[in-house]
Amino acid sequence: MEVIIKPNYEELSKYAAEIISRQIQEKPNSVLGLATGSTPEGLYKEIVRMRKEKALDFSKIVTFNLDEYYGLAIDSKQSYACFMHENLFKHININQENAHIPDGKIPLQEIENYCRQYENKIKENRGIDLQILGIGIDGHIGFNEPGSSLYSRTRLVVLDKTTIDTNWEKFFKKDGIAKENASSFAITMGIGTIFEAGRILLMASGKSKADIVAKFIEGPVTSQVPASFLQLHPNVSVILDEDAASKLQRYEHYKYSMGERKKLERK
Ligand code: F6R
Repeated sequence: MEVIIKPNYEELSKYAAEIISRQIQEKPNSVLGLATGSTPEGLYKEIVRMRKEKALDFSKIVTFNLDEYYGLAIDSKQSYACFMHENLFKHININQENAHIPDGKIPLQEIENYCRQYENKIKENRGIDLQILGIGIDGHIGFNEPGSSLYSRTRLVVLDKTTIDTNWEKFFKKDGIAKENASSFAITMGIGTIFEAGRILLMASGKSKADIVAKFIEGPVTSQVPASFLQLHPNVSVILDEDAASKLQRYEHYKYSMGERKKLERK
């Protein structure tokens, strides 16, 4: 696992955007796995800037979002579909048919089949080249809450209380939605699904993430901290800002390795 520590959120976002831009330039028909939430907002802003200033081309890009709240209408303001449209899709030249997000309105009896189809679509597109992830303070990736199996696939899940509370504070409260009415279910790609991506980029920012970041990078691999499974994936980059990295025991080592790598690249 490669750990990169950037001075602040802005630098972290720029660094992640550079990686995506390189991926798109090297493979213009890349398949990207996308995340929502507050962490990738800066990354998407940066990508939109690259689209405007450098004409970064998304015309052949295919995307699959990790998750969607279950029970929210696609056009509801809190849906991840709306988030993606507002923060990214409406600003870039992606073919809307190539942008996939789980449908949070699928009838209950059709969900299993629908999730299988979502996975099949990823396979038909030859798999995800680069998957973007954030991390919840309970260690979730996608909406794979503690206890999720390494082999889990796309499915309907019940969100943890901490996740509902955090997301309500960040995304529902401002629109006057009562906590009882915030979504407590989601459709999420499984950890097994995420693991099939060629490369994974996890971003974490801020002091509130410091404890879980130290746990998932330096603690044991356990389903109680789903992100810790990433220790087993061969191609993971974790991009942190100073605050999120502040509780890593090997903080100095990671800083030192970044410097050494730079020296090597300059040679
Ligand atoms: C969102 C997702 C979640 C978030 C996580 C962190 O698509 O998959 O795992 O990445 O809840 O959210 P923020 O970035 O809001 O702290």
